[in-house]
Amino acid sequence: MQTDEIHHESCLETLKRLPDKSIDIVVTDPPYLMNYRSNRRKEKFKHIENDVDSHGLIQNYLSECYRVLKDNTAIYMFCSWHHVDFFKIEFEKHFKLKNIIVWVKNVHGTGDLEGSYAPKHELILYGHKGRSLLRENRIPDVIECPKVNPESMIHPTEKPVRLLETFIKNSSEKGDIVFDGFIGGGSTAIAAMNLERKFIGSELDENYYNQCIKRTTYAYSYQLSLFDI
Ligand SMILES: C[S@@+](CC[C@H](N)C(=O)[O-])C[C@H]1O[C@@H](n2cnc3c(N)ncnc32)[C@H](O)[C@@H]1O
Repeated sequence: MQTDEIHHESCLETLKRLPDKSIDIVVTDPPYLMNYRSNRRKEKFKHIENDVDSHGLIQNYLSECYRVLKDNTAIYMFCSWHHVDFFKIEFEKHFKLKNIIVWVKNVHGTGDLEGSYAPKHELILYGHKGRSLLRENRIPDVIECPKVNPESMIHPTEKPVRLLETFIKNSSEKGDIVFDGFIGGGSTAIAAMNLERKFIGSELDENYYNQCIKRTTYAYSYQLSLFDI
């Protein structure tokens, strides 16, 4: 099995090739199932692949993640509050849900400007296959972390490397393999590299795949500790 690889294909194709119980941690950020498009960057980013009606994809993905994870490991899965009911039900078909972690951002989004509160958080389902112990000091399930600077963003829903590092550090060891089937601009791979873990990922969109390869290759060649490149 090759590691430190990003594949330009559906995550389900990548997963098919992975043996049972071969992965140490899944940190992943599936499509939001809501036709997401940032209001602030209409010109910069297009709609995300499989962002509507991909409930079957998520169901198969979770079942495959369970198969490839070793026993006594952890999974972290971002999800929008809009569909947390669906994600939680599917997640709990396989994993023991331990927390719904709240990521509090430094700035709020838009939404219904006159009829709703300004959205400033995202949810992460955190669960176990078997039982996984935290490696670091226990921290609260509400985590403050700034969003990626819009100027340097290469993906419309790009997640901060520092936040992903918190999860990877807490639930894996150096040399372990991190899997993210929806790797977007590659933040999970950069977090894994910074922490001396290996990674396997996939991305369907050619543009994001190319950006991700560029970013991880750059990180490799300079052996940097990287946050927002
Ligand atoms: C929410 S975004 C992930 C963003 C990523 N966490 C980052 O920090 O850049 C979900 C990504 O999944 C990709 N995607 C959608 N369906 C896919 C599939 N079947 N296999 C692999 N990638 C897929 C989309 O193109 C999108 O880039």
